[in-house]
Amino acid sequence: MKIALPANIMGSLGEFQSDSLVNGNLVRDIKELNCNDGEVSKIDFKTSPRFAGIKPLEKKVWLASPTMHKEEREWVDEAIRTNWVSTVGANINEVEKQVAEYVGCNYSVGLSCGTTALHLAVRLAGEKIYGVPKVGHGSLEGRRVFAADMTFFATVNPITYEGGEPVFIDTERETWNMDPAALEKAFELYPDVKLIVIAHLYGTPSKIDEIRSIADAHGALIVEDAAESLGASYKGKQTGTFGDFSIISFNGNKIITGSAGGMFLCSDKSDADKIRKWSTQSREAAPWYQHEELGYNYRMSNIIAGVIRGQLPHLEEHIAQKKAVFERYRDGLADLPIKMNPFDAENSVPNYWLSCMIIDEDAMTPQVRGDMDFMYRSEHGKSCPQEILEALSAFNAEGRPVWKPMHMQPIYENHGFVKASDDGIDVGADIFRRGVCLPSDNKMTAEEQNVLIEIIHRCFK
Ligand SMILES: Cc1ncc(COP(=O)(O)O)c(C=O)c1O
Repeated sequence: MKIALPANIMGSLGEFQSDSLVNGNLVRDIKELNCNDGEVSKIDFKTSPRFAGIKPLEKKVWLASPTMHKEEREWVDEAIRTNWVSTVGANINEVEKQVAEYVGCNYSVGLSCGTTALHLAVRLAGEKIYGVPKVGHGSLEGRRVFAADMTFFATVNPITYEGGEPVFIDTERETWNMDPAALEKAFELYPDVKLIVIAHLYGTPSKIDEIRSIADAHGALIVEDAAESLGASYKGKQTGTFGDFSIISFNGNKIITGSAGGMFLCSDKSDADKIRKWSTQSREAAPWYQHEELGYNYRMSNIIAGVIRGQLPHLEEHIAQKKAVFERYRDGLADLPIKMNPFDAENSVPNYWLSCMIIDEDAMTPQVRGDMDFMYRSEHGKSCPQEILEALSAFNAEGRPVWKPMHMQPIYENHGFVKASDDGIDVGADIFRRGVCLPSDNKMTAEEQNVLIEIIHRCFK
């Protein structure tokens, strides 16, 4: 049986092949998709005999949705009642204090979101390393910056906002974060680099000691993106304390949320003061609007801080719920040819923000992804991420592919990408090809999760 691939998939094949994607697996998958008999996407899961007896979940299970308690409303109400609804107020002061205490850093500055926190962190790092740029210029203009590759887009864009050029560092398999071996290699290729931006994917701490010692050996600063990992720790210290400058996010999908919001974390008062000043339009201490530096409107609002203030007492509870979700998947899927997203159990405690799985290579059915679309073949005993995601969606649950690596994104396709060895596999592309972010909502019941676990089993039938 021959299958015509959609034009958008065909159109992107040249690019994928020249990327030597996952050592020829894509080329094999395309051939198999064209040659073998079997069921080809799109499958009607609700009527397929493989899924007989499974009913769609009554209430949608999300990947990760906000979980409100009652205290949020009290602090927001108080802000409204007392008329402190702007970017000043007791909620902001209190969440800055509580987060700094919880994380174990000296200073924190509440900002409008994780992305703005990263922008100011990266700008500040650029100024420390290269000096204050001329007005109208970024602090990283013409400079390369090493950046995590398998992460959310927002981790790396601030480098670009500041005129820098991210060079992406491949991923290791033990934590799915920046590979120290690839970072070492990158310094051989680009010895002048002085800034590294790392992230802790899905709430799993990176190989922090190795990365820090490489950074120190090369006199480089680290910006730590702990947006997804609030509450996760490494060797007894919380993430958010390992960067020269660090950030967290209170986006609606995070372990706790303010509906939005983010925070800059650091150890020096002067850095915190600088970020606070920049985030409120860089006003000088004059009786009128007086400006010596570029300004931003990036400060957290006291309303958002009220929501965060109400969430903070529930952080540990959310982490425990996420851990239970992870463990139920781990145990319920133990008989399948898959593995859960890994972490360094000896040295770190994740916050289990997202539970993910990766399908063993020999249990992968052919799957081809273009820029916008995909095809796969359904085969007995095998499956692939797109089949699992479609099946979950058909029964009312939201999963997602593992974050597509930055070096595979069209916007960054001409940027450097460094693997641990030249002839080695592209690990990020491989995890993206075989990995799935599972519905990880902390409000999902064990019964609902059992249905999801059964759906995943049926995908391999
Ligand atoms: C790793 C990572 N970095 C940065 C961000 C950006 O945070 P925000 O959405 O608060 O701007 C997010 C997610 O939202 C993220 O997952």
